[in-house]
Amino acid sequence: MKIEMSPSTMLNPVPVVMVSCAGKDPLKEETRPNILTVAWAGTINSEPPMVSISVRKSRHSHGLICETQEFVINLVTEDLAKACDYCGVRSGSKEDKFSATDLTPVSAPNMKYAPQILESPVSICCQVKDVIELGSHDMFLGEVKSVSVDEKWIDDKGKICLEKAKLVAYSHGEYYGLGKLLGFFGYSVASKKALARRMPAKKHSKRNTK
Ligand SMILES: Cc1cc2nc3c(=O)[nH]c(=O)nc-3n(C[C@H](O)[C@H](O)[C@H](O)COP(=O)(O)O)c2cc1C
Repeated sequence: MKIEMSPSTMLNPVPVVMVSCAGKDPLKEETRPNILTVAWAGTINSEPPMVSISVRKSRHSHGLICETQEFVINLVTEDLAKACDYCGVRSGSKEDKFSATDLTPVSAPNMKYAPQILESPVSICCQVKDVIELGSHDMFLGEVKSVSVDEKWIDDKGKICLEKAKLVAYSHGEYYGLGKLLGFFGYSVASKKALARRMPAKKHSKRNTK
């Protein structure tokens, strides 16, 4: 039996990302490059590629993103989890989170102000297209202008091997590494040949509905 609860943000797990941004003058303390941790991020369109991040008005980063209309979503690996958490509990209004976490801001393709984080395996550079005021959070709709992938995760055939990067998920207030591979897009109807090629270690029954 399921117990009915009051409405809440119970969608789990979600990605947790580090959003980098900066004001127009990166040399000024109040507009220097900054990192904000965001769990409420999502892919919302494919042509053009678009993403959203929901950010409270009170966040220092909110003002920076409004000023430049740019932000970069940086994916988080297990190695970066602690830095990611730190960027979600300290404000850039009071300290330089890049130096506090030993992360490196580097210029991002197609971005005038927002840096990418060098240590992140994938950085998604976004231009704000719209801001929707939802209540507690403002949702920034961003068009993806470029994606930078650390060459370490690209094999010699040009395939991006993100499964090796040890990405992190966030569920009900806790960070998790990703578990074992369960399947791939369409595996429930894939041929035996495709299953054997993509998941050689797994035993395959005829039709995988269970
Ligand atoms: C795991 C985690 C997820 C978070 N997700 C969000 C989010 O989706 N939106 C938001 O506005 N703040 C979120 N926060 C809080 C901000 O990251 C936090 O308030 C941060 O200190 C703001 O930094 P800033 O003031 O430098 O912008 C999250 C924090 C953590 C630890």
